[in-house]
Amino acid sequence: MQRFAEAKRCRGRLIAFVPTMGYFHEGHLNLMRIGRKQGDCLIVSIYVNPAQFAPTEDFEAYPRDFERDSRLAEEVGVDVIFCPDNQEMYPEGYQTYVEVEGVTNNLCGISRPRFFRGVTTVCTKLFHIVKPHVTIFGKKDFQQYVTMRRMVRDLNMDIEVVGMDTTRESDGLAMSSRNVYLKPEERKSALSLSRSLVLAGELYGKGERDAALILEKVRAWIAGYPHTEIDYARICDTTTMKDAARIEGECVLALAVWLGKTRLIDNRVFGESLKTG
Ligand code: PAJ
Repeated sequence: MQRFAEAKRCRGRLIAFVPTMGYFHEGHLNLMRIGRKQGDCLIVSIYVNPAQFAPTEDFEAYPRDFERDSRLAEEVGVDVIFCPDNQEMYPEGYQTYVEVEGVTNNLCGISRPRFFRGVTTVCTKLFHIVKPHVTIFGKKDFQQYVTMRRMVRDLNMDIEVVGMDTTRESDGLAMSSRNVYLKPEERKSALSLSRSLVLAGELYGKGERDAALILEKVRAWIAGYPHTEIDYARICDTTTMKDAARIEGECVLALAVWLGKTRLIDNRVFGESLKTG
């Protein structure tokens, strides 16, 4: 992979890279479509990274379907699927990890303590292997996107991180590989996330800026659906990812909700500045 990437670079080709854990849905495919436009050579990785799963989480059960994924990737014009195994990524004696501090302390960093360390480590490794000029991340995983931008800047990685808006089902549910876990009654209640974000958007549209007040309504709305248990509902400044008392500047309303045994996340950004890249 490194030799292939280096050869492309030597010929002046721009490498676009989309890291994934596979089991593709339209959200993944939309990242690839952006990548197709951004680079001459589009590389996608499929790797279910054990380092970002806690022992109690769904690493074993995580859905996998390489045949289907490779067919879909080919349809959107992916040039290379990079699909390493655990032996190659974390051979015996492996002991190096990358950690981003501040922006990983809140939200998923509280609920899933080793998660971001696993993500930043595997992405650093993948970046060194794939040597991309540009990489595309989904804003569905907003804190992950912010963390990537922070890491790339802090470690002087010469890579542009592009953020892509969340792709949704027609009823508003954010697409996720984990949606396949949902039982029919949980699938219905999963709409509580996107619907409460719309509700918050309406309050914001009417001029409400008090985070506690908006969050109280959001929590009550979600709790009104059966089979839901809120992990977190917070409004954070998008630069620091610290809780904000008022929505001023760019803030994100981030949700993590359990539907039975499945944990889903979603978010909505308010006061988005015209930052790109
Ligand atoms: P995975 O969950 O497979 O997601 C791969 C990429 O697809 C991430 O950038 C994610 O934000 C994006 N994505 C997922 N659902 C989306 C949606 N509905 N709309 C837009 N983008 C969406 O995120 C990971 O894998 C891993 O943590 C990884 C970065 C690959 C590191 O292991």
